[in-house]
Amino acid sequence: AFVVTENCIKCKYTDCVEVCPVDCFYEGPNFLVIHPDECIDCALCEPECPAEAIFEEDDLPADQKQFIELNAELAEEWPNITEQKDPPADAKDWDGKPDKLQYLER
Ligand code: SF4
Ligand code: F3S
Repeated sequence: AFVVTENCIKCKYTDCVEVCPVDCFYEGPNFLVIHPDECIDCALCEPECPAEAIFEEDDLPADQKQFIELNAELAEEWPNITEQKDPPADAKDWDGKPDKLQYLER
């Protein structure tokens, strides 16, 4: 499955949800996740993310592997999102900032 990683936190551009053919994105306050059991590995979302936060599970950077579990866990708790919405006003300021996991809201 594809996985949303740390750089989505506080950026949450939501371009990704528009292209997913199986609507398997789930939305939290400042982060999105992919449901691993619903993702069909079509790869359409990966190039859509302006923050380059989406990776195939096997291509995850070494420091992002914990996001496999996090996507699986939060996809069970958060509501589905299928339509793009405006990103946070300061999304650009957070794009590329390191160590954003501490800001994840649940
Ligand atoms: Fe949806 Fe395809 Fe991305 Fe999986 S890889 S989340 S099915 S767009
Ligand atoms: Fe996040 Fe990128 Fe989607 S920033 S909401 S994974 S477009």
